[in-house]
Amino acid sequence: MARVLSGVQASGLPHIGNYFGAIKQHVEMSHGDDDCYYFIADYHALTTIQDAEVLATNVHHATATYVALGLNTEKSAFFRQSDVPEVTELTWLLATCTGMGLLERAHSYKDKLAKGIKPSVGLFTYPILMASDILIYDAEIVPVGKDQVQHVEMTQDMAGHLNNLYGAELLKRPEWRLSPTPKVPGTDGEKMSKSYGNTIPIFAEGKPLKKIVNRILTDSREPHEPKNPDDLHVYAILDLFLTEDEKAEWRARIEAGGENAPGYGHMKKAIMEKMDELFGDARVKYRELLDTPAGQEELEAVLQQGAARARATAQGVLARVYDAVGIKNRGIGI
Ligand code: ADP
Ligand code: TRP
Repeated sequence: MARVLSGVQASGLPHIGNYFGAIKQHVEMSHGDDDCYYFIADYHALTTIQDAEVLATNVHHATATYVALGLNTEKSAFFRQSDVPEVTELTWLLATCTGMGLLERAHSYKDKLAKGIKPSVGLFTYPILMASDILIYDAEIVPVGKDQVQHVEMTQDMAGHLNNLYGAELLKRPEWRLSPTPKVPGTDGEKMSKSYGNTIPIFAEGKPLKKIVNRILTDSREPHEPKNPDDLHVYAILDLFLTEDEKAEWRARIEAGGENAPGYGHMKKAIMEKMDELFGDARVKYRELLDTPAGQEELEAVLQQGAARARATAQGVLARVYDAVGIKNRGIGI
């Protein structure tokens, strides 16, 4: 049994890239033998969202998404990052041992600067808070998307520095784990991302869903022309929803061309049907959780229960680190 941990930045409507790249694995693992910790990264979100209402709504939606999609909230700890404030204490201790050079090499920081985001000190030190998120729970496996791998590698470096200084066993070295589909394409064929406006939201349905799916970029070739499925954005999206047998069948028909070959319209229709099949029940649950007082109470109860469990683990690890560095004050609550 391994300790698995991942954080979810609450930054808008979750899309099928988030689902196949992250959420699906998180939910599956929560039903297995591993000891899973998942949290909504609201401290991190503050580096880009400075509107109290928007932040609160995003946290609410992200929580509802995981619960609606079947996260096992009994077996795993699902919580709000800020409900375990000890994580900021460990962040400071890590910061004192982290070289500026390490942070200056962060791709995600450089990407955000390139997008024109005005950097705050918090944005610059974001990887230290993320390292603290991981190390404070003695996490061993961190399932993330490709874009987050460097942050986990930085966490390994930080743990290594502290262990060199204070004892090899002080902090656990985490390993990252990619999902089988770490890069889901958007409607334009680029990486699906909220920042590119090319997403298919998990819980879209009916006419709005149809409008979005119709936007998936295709070319003008006729259905009967033989094609390589690997060249088609629309097939790449459909493929996510198919079983191995279904994949073989669709691929063979696309490659063969002729009368039985599916056109782009068929593939788009199949995507909508598959979305209804996969997310239909969760969609209903999602709306219930968000729109009814009972639903909102359920979400809050889940988060509180998760926080109590996570906080107990965090306090234990933090006490160990304070002892090692020679600080006797154990912080509030320990
Ligand atoms: P976005 O790029 O839309 O802002 P986030 O950065 O909030 O998405 O990502 C949340 C999680 O979903 C991360 O683990 C990220 O790696 C994963 N993810 C996001 N977009 C994709 C994608 N297109 N394909 C696979 N995984 C993705
Ligand atoms: N930075 C991650 C993202 O943008 C979210 C995150 C915060 C995280 N802390 C984490 C992921 C710890 C894994 C482990 O997606």
